[in-house]
Amino acid sequence: MADAAAPIDKAYEFIFWFSIVFTVVITVALVYFIWKYRRRPGVKAEPTGHYQKLEIFWTVVPTIFVVVLFHVGFGQYIKNATAAEGSTEIRVRGKKWSWEFEYPSGDRMPGELVLELGRPYKMILSSDDVIHSFYIPEFRMKRDAVPGQYSFIAFTPTKAGPAHVFCAEYCGNSHSGMLATVTVLPHDQYKEFVKTLGKKPKLCGTPPAECTNEAWGGELFVKNGCPTCHGAGGVGEIGGSKSPGPRLVGLFMKGGGEMMSTGSAVTPDENYIRESILRPNAKIVMGYNTVQMPTFVMKDEQVDALVAYVKSLK
Ligand code: CUA
Repeated sequence: MADAAAPIDKAYEFIFWFSIVFTVVITVALVYFIWKYRRRPGVKAEPTGHYQKLEIFWTVVPTIFVVVLFHVGFGQYIKNATAAEGSTEIRVRGKKWSWEFEYPSGDRMPGELVLELGRPYKMILSSDDVIHSFYIPEFRMKRDAVPGQYSFIAFTPTKAGPAHVFCAEYCGNSHSGMLATVTVLPHDQYKEFVKTLGKKPKLCGTPPAECTNEAWGGELFVKNGCPTCHGAGGVGEIGGSKSPGPRLVGLFMKGGGEMMSTGSAVTPDENYIRESILRPNAKIVMGYNTVQMPTFVMKDEQVDALVAYVKSLK
């Protein structure tokens, strides 16, 4: 949970019950009057006169309600649209189809947002390609990430624990797979986390074992959202049909090479894999020119791990 969640829930509940009460009251009155003044033989309908007091009453009272509702909603909106002074800024980049978080230290973490409990944050959003929408339901926070423009959301996590990021704007084939996790840590644990930022963990995989480059690469593959384009484990298929990105299984040093859209084959060695991660549009595999892979910025160790992983896919 974050600081804005409780007031937003309160405002929502207030408006909800306010609407329920008035819907019931108005409907009951309506039905009653329909019945009371129904057409009956021998009773002639008389036009009613002008009743000023009643008209003033039903104009003024709802106006007061509407102003109160506006005040509640707008006050919270302004609060959410302003970042606290000294907020920690985190860059959030949406790309087809993953989320990447850049910490003040410059370290980039894909698919995993780790925050410190009680620290005010400003998430600066942008998109590398199309419009995405950064949505953390637990925090009651949502804002579009638009290419060529920055937007932001601001909040302070108020409860330790997990939360989730969704993309709430349809952005193509794997929109529904554009997920990330949020973890809010107490101060001490957060300090420990910062030390590990961008570094190879001691343990990884399931069940956790000593983290080899290959196993770490497998984790980075998932966190960077690679399966949303290349299929789980790089099989080149999603749900039985061809995935937007080429198959990676059996790619490394494939006999005959990998055919490019230019009509010539390249040797899929370490250099080719590395280039395809860092400059994905340098060489396009034949039949895969409809979706542009976003560019990834990574540390050398991370690239090494991913290359090791792709090499291991057989
Ligand atoms: Cu990104 Cu939907």
